[in-house]
Amino acid sequence: MPANKSKTALLTGATSGIGLEIARGLHLAGWNLVLLSRNFKKLEQVKHQLPQPEKVQCIEVDLCSMNQTKKAALACPAEKLDLIIHNAGGAFGRHQPTDDGFERSLALNYLAPFLLTELLWPKLDKTQGCLIHLSSSAHYKGKIYWEDPNLNQSYFILKAYSQSKLMQLMHARHLATWPQAPACYAVHPGLVKTAIGNKHSLGYMGLIWTLFTNWRGISPKEGADNSLWLANSAAADRPPSGSYLHQRKVKPPLALAQNEEACTRLYHSTKSWLAPWLEKNETPI
Ligand SMILES: NC(=O)c1ccc[n+]([C@@H]2O[C@H](COP(=O)([O-])OP(=O)(O)OC[C@H]3O[C@@H](n4cnc5c(N)ncnc54)[C@H](OP(=O)(O)O)[C@@H]3O)[C@@H](O)[C@H]2O)c1
Repeated sequence: MPANKSKTALLTGATSGIGLEIARGLHLAGWNLVLLSRNFKKLEQVKHQLPQPEKVQCIEVDLCSMNQTKKAALACPAEKLDLIIHNAGGAFGRHQPTDDGFERSLALNYLAPFLLTELLWPKLDKTQGCLIHLSSSAHYKGKIYWEDPNLNQSYFILKAYSQSKLMQLMHARHLATWPQAPACYAVHPGLVKTAIGNKHSLGYMGLIWTLFTNWRGISPKEGADNSLWLANSAAADRPPSGSYLHQRKVKPPLALAQNEEACTRLYHSTKSWLAPWLEKNETPI
């Protein structure tokens, strides 16, 4: 793996599962790391288990809160970012609006990454840089509920999760159309044996998740492979920007995500939802 001594990556959700393996893999490849997660103690443990903790900076943030997300972006100590990986995510058994009034999986899986991207955009290297969303094959079941993205009318865990994963993918595809942008990707890590299905879902669903992933799931290290491969590839060797990937291979995403007009509409709708946090931080395209 090439050494990336002077390169810096910002990674969310580095305290468990796939994100922890991505953090380890990036560190071993020589990256400087800015790690964001909700539990500072766990983040510090991750940092001090790595061989060169001095190359790791940690920021505590609850990505369900847009105020905290904005604060974390503004606190990012790196002057320049070569890589952003939006990995933190969750699935929620109950409809639980955040303090900002957003449905929780929408906030965590899509709005926080969107807000971080907007606020950190000036720091991102537009020529050699890379942005990766940990999306999911669940996006194939997704729809955009344009009139009710918070699913206040009718909620189901998979409906909310699939919508948020589709939105992440559409975000990557939209950014890829900009003339001045890093290479943007959405990846499906596979079915990975992590605790994501147990953290906030209803009891019986958590049990199904555990049984199913123990039966068919791959390890978090295998789940991290696609993202690490993209991160450590030279810009010229990467697949086309805007690609959706699984196991290092480009896959056709859901038709809606291939519709440039829909991706642009989603981008502008999201900017209006996040307007209170984006004021005075307009993105130069
Ligand atoms: N596992 C799969 O089969 C699978 C399949 C497709 C896509 N994905 C996607 O892959 C990504 C990683 O999933 P995973 O399976 O590795 O899940 P995981 O083990 O639950 O890890 C999720 C990470 O996000 C952090 N996090 C959760 N809520 C947060 C919040 N409110 N604020 C800040 N950080 C928060 C978690 O912190 P804690 O350690 O404190 O919980 C953890 O570090 C997710 O985006 C998921 O949707 C996973």
